Amino acid sequence: MSSTVSYADRRALLAAELEDAGCDAIVVDHPQHVRWLTGFTGSNGAVLVYADGRAMVSTDGRYTTQIGVEAPDLELHLSRNCAIELAGRAGVKRLGFEAGHVTVAAMRRIAAALDAAKGEELVETADLVEKLRAVKDDAELEALRAVADIAVKAFEGLVESGAIAAGNTERDVAAELEHRMRIGGADGIAFDTIVASGPNSAKPHAGAEDRELRDGDLLTIDFGAAKDGYHSDMTRTLIVGGPDAAEDFAMEIYSTVLRAQLAGVASARPGTPLADVDRACREIIVAAGHGEYFVHSTGHGIGLDVHEAPYASSRSTETLVTGMTLTIEPGIYVPGYGGVRIEDTVIVTDGEPEIITPLPKTV
Ligand code: GLY
Ligand code: MN
Ligand code: MN
Repeated sequence: MSSTVSYADRRALLAAELEDAGCDAIVVDHPQHVRWLTGFTGSNGAVLVYADGRAMVSTDGRYTTQIGVEAPDLELHLSRNCAIELAGRAGVKRLGFEAGHVTVAAMRRIAAALDAAKGEELVETADLVEKLRAVKDDAELEALRAVADIAVKAFEGLVESGAIAAGNTERDVAAELEHRMRIGGADGIAFDTIVASGPNSAKPHAGAEDRELRDGDLLTIDFGAAKDGYHSDMTRTLIVGGPDAAEDFAMEIYSTVLRAQLAGVASARPGTPLADVDRACREIIVAAGHGEYFVHSTGHGIGLDVHEAPYASSRSTETLVTGMTLTIEPGIYVPGYGGVRIEDTVIVTDGEPEIITPLPKTV
């Protein structure tokens, strides 16, 4: 990353939320949150952030060297039980914890580390870091563009390779695509690659099976790369053998999903309610008579997690702001026949949405 990450700035954003959340400090041990707040990438760690911005970290002996490199400026306390260790040292009356990430058993152990005689108590918090992470800083946007570019180039290579052809299996296509992402610089895949052909494409979350592709099949490929902790996510639907091999109905649902997807992308502007992004896609599919086959919501943010805030669904109550990422992924899935999904990831900017997955959208 060439944009410098300021972990102190991120912790200051969290610290500024604590008073309203009813706490004097918060202990965080969800790995993506520890990473976002400190730069530490190990599997066991916690960070304590005070309302005045001070912070300390904990990890176990396996990571002493690593945390010294990744989070060199933070006071370190070694322990296997990181959150409990930091809770015991916090010395505040109201210690927040992340109710969405801590098990009941862990919460009880953290509470036991507090000094009840001094009036110390645990306070539940919800989604504080998630809301901050929804708006990406420059370093994150750079990482997201880079990981999306790896996936885009891998898909272009896949198409050129001729692997998408009748007689090859879904598994063959997934392996070729994943190999290309790896040698293109990915640390791994973002999620299990979906290569769903013919009737399998009617399952939004199909896998990649032994089915052989046939000319005329709808073929949905939903894939992503992972690099430096960040993820990409995009979907293209093709017709095996090209448009001449397609049935009219397949082309009809394809063109409907494409119109819906373009409308959704165009709507992704700062100030737009996320429910309106969902509506922009859904009303086109409903008007075409396929509403019952659009069985999921329209999209999600992406970053250190593949699925993270914000979420675009009919129930969303939040609004897009500049710096958010969002996937726009409407689909039509006709059981027993097949399905179409088209998915891009966009960055919300002050102007047009920036599509970071700019592959052609043709069959
Ligand atoms: N591949 C998962 C998704 O598109 O959300
Ligand atoms: Mn996807
Ligand atoms: Mn997605």
